[in-house]
Amino acid sequence: MRDLFPSPYTINDARRFIARATGPSPGLLLAIEVQGKAAGGIGINPLNDTYRGTAEIGYWLAEPFWGNGIMTDAVRALVPVTFDRTALVRIQAGIFSNNPASMQVLEKCGFVREAVHRKAITKHGMVMDEVMYVRFRNDR
Ligand SMILES: CC(C)(COP(=O)(O)OP(=O)(O)OC[C@H]1O[C@@H](n2cnc3c(N)ncnc32)[C@H](O)[C@@H]1OP(=O)(O)O)[C@@H](O)C(=O)NCCC(=O)NCCS
Repeated sequence: MRDLFPSPYTINDARRFIARATGPSPGLLLAIEVQGKAAGGIGINPLNDTYRGTAEIGYWLAEPFWGNGIMTDAVRALVPVTFDRTALVRIQAGIFSNNPASMQVLEKCGFVREAVHRKAITKHGMVMDEVMYVRFRNDR
């Protein structure tokens, strides 16, 4: 997760997030619900300027729900909806090299490993690579 994601996460962080998700943002921010309870989130963030045909996909799931295929289902569901509703040609995700589960999710959803940005990430004082995964409109 990027440092932009608050940790610890407070009730005010949640209120700010809901205001953003339900406001006039160009992207899409959705809750992941499991048996009626919020379990995580997934979003599409379109980039600007000459990157306007590209969006980033981002997601997180609360730990008790890991390993049940939930995020694979969520990404698999969101990708076609995104291409259907927008003119985007590319969806990308820059995965920290210490997150093989996230890479596995993307691979199961038809994303391909495009590049490794060496030492691009600094998180909790650790420098690591970013692995760029992509899926294109015409891959469908
Ligand atoms: C990464 C994350 C989204 C995965 O969600 P999930 O619902 O548990 O994912 P799924 O169950 O759909 O799939 C996970 C896959 O990773 C695999 N996996 C889990 N840990 C792994 C590891 N250490 N090495 C390799 N593969 C691993 C699982 O076996 C599974 O693959 P399989 O179905 O082929 O067996 C979730 O762990 C999470 O939210 N983590 C914290 C936030 C985060 O990292 N967000 C992504 C930022 S890019």
